[in-house]
Amino acid sequence: MKTTRKGFPDNFYWGGAIAANQAEGAYREDGKLPSTADIKARGFFGGLRRDADYYPTHKAIDFYHTYKEDLALFGEAGFNIFRTSINWTRVFPTGEETGPNEKGLQFYEDMFKEANRNGMTVMITISHYETPLNLVDKFGGWDNRIFIDFYLKFVKTIVTRYKGLVKFWLTFNEIGNTAVIPICWDAAGIYPDSENLEQRMYQAAHHQFVASALATKMIHEIDPKAKAGAMIAYKTVYPYTCKVEDVKAAEAAKRKEYFFSDVQSRGYYPSYIWRYFEEKNIHIRMERGDEEIIKAFPVDFITFSYYRSRVVSADYEEPAEKTSGSLEGLVNPYLPKTDWGWTIDPEGLRLALNELYDRYQLPLFIVENGLGAKDTVEADGSIRDTYRIEYMAAHIQAMKEAVKDGVDLRGYTMWGPIDIVSNGTGQMSKRYGIIYVDLDDDGNGTGKRIKKESFEWYKNVIKSNGEII
Ligand code: BG6
Repeated sequence: MKTTRKGFPDNFYWGGAIAANQAEGAYREDGKLPSTADIKARGFFGGLRRDADYYPTHKAIDFYHTYKEDLALFGEAGFNIFRTSINWTRVFPTGEETGPNEKGLQFYEDMFKEANRNGMTVMITISHYETPLNLVDKFGGWDNRIFIDFYLKFVKTIVTRYKGLVKFWLTFNEIGNTAVIPICWDAAGIYPDSENLEQRMYQAAHHQFVASALATKMIHEIDPKAKAGAMIAYKTVYPYTCKVEDVKAAEAAKRKEYFFSDVQSRGYYPSYIWRYFEEKNIHIRMERGDEEIIKAFPVDFITFSYYRSRVVSADYEEPAEKTSGSLEGLVNPYLPKTDWGWTIDPEGLRLALNELYDRYQLPLFIVENGLGAKDTVEADGSIRDTYRIEYMAAHIQAMKEAVKDGVDLRGYTMWGPIDIVSNGTGQMSKRYGIIYVDLDDDGNGTGKRIKKESFEWYKNVIKSNGEII
């Protein structure tokens, strides 16, 4: 008889994840031109503007120049994996060039080597909300099929250059957000106030499925030791009541999330989506061969971000308060919330892991999780972020339970191990890090790095391979 696993496997990956545009700054340096991230005045909730006084991503935490010290700190914490993204506009500033920008390529080569030297395997998100702005200005968003070619040129260039340096490639960050307003801007370069929005978003998703499949093929051909993964935003869904209507609404909401990983891992459009498309009058234009491509090159593994669960009701007139700073859903009266109104639900992560593993039977990787909170620097210079330790401890405990449940979980990269700019709000004060960065929401401050109490704590978790939480 098989016995259950008692803890994390020996080769478990522990580390942290950031995105290029939220950390690097240097937004016009060494030939780089603006990406879709660079016109977000204050995160995606702050709107898209070309004339704002301040754009948090332009300077961010200056990781472009500080990566050596920052990676050394991650190494000191014991990370054996580091996830970041490659800002497309460092490599192809307009997206249209026939050849890459060598300075941009060199920067990432140096950075990945530095990560390797500090004991970290590199995981790369190829597209983390960073499409060349020039491409979007000229060709619209990803619903224009031309984006597949631009993307594949970028993929071929980086996978060839970083062969042997990068082990895991994620084709699109939180791909399901291509069909979520207003993040469709981040994920697919589609303005949230566009006409015919849903049609455009799902057409964009189709092009991303084809692009992801062809990227997976390329990754396998160019670097057979590397793996290609899907990356979705997972929010465990609960029905608001046990009324059948609420349960049905919750199931429908789950399917909207699953649709993306279903296609990327199973290699075909699930039957349930066609009725949804029909009812919404959505018509996907597929070219001959698209379905075969999607079928032939599914992803090797599934990664996801998990911050919170959500509650769904068939009737939004229910007497429940809507969550603030959240995109959808209702308040869960049984669970606490963060300062930004995000539900804190570690058991939801155990459910997420089990649901995803039951559905796909593929290796899983949590590539984002953490607590966005305000931190205070005490008079003695310390930062006592016990709330962050409690949040992470509870989630890591839930992961361990899921592993005991039989889930094939390969790793955990906490979100923002060093404080970075919030994607949603553009704030620095929404901090996730175990390393503090002395910068405020307007970019004022020294940029100095300070280890928080959670730094030592996470270091010990890693050292004990999750035994001491
Ligand atoms: C994920 C994104 O959705 O959530 C990250 O992949 C983002 O880019 C993270 O930073 C946390 O969200 P926020 O809005 O708190 O930065």
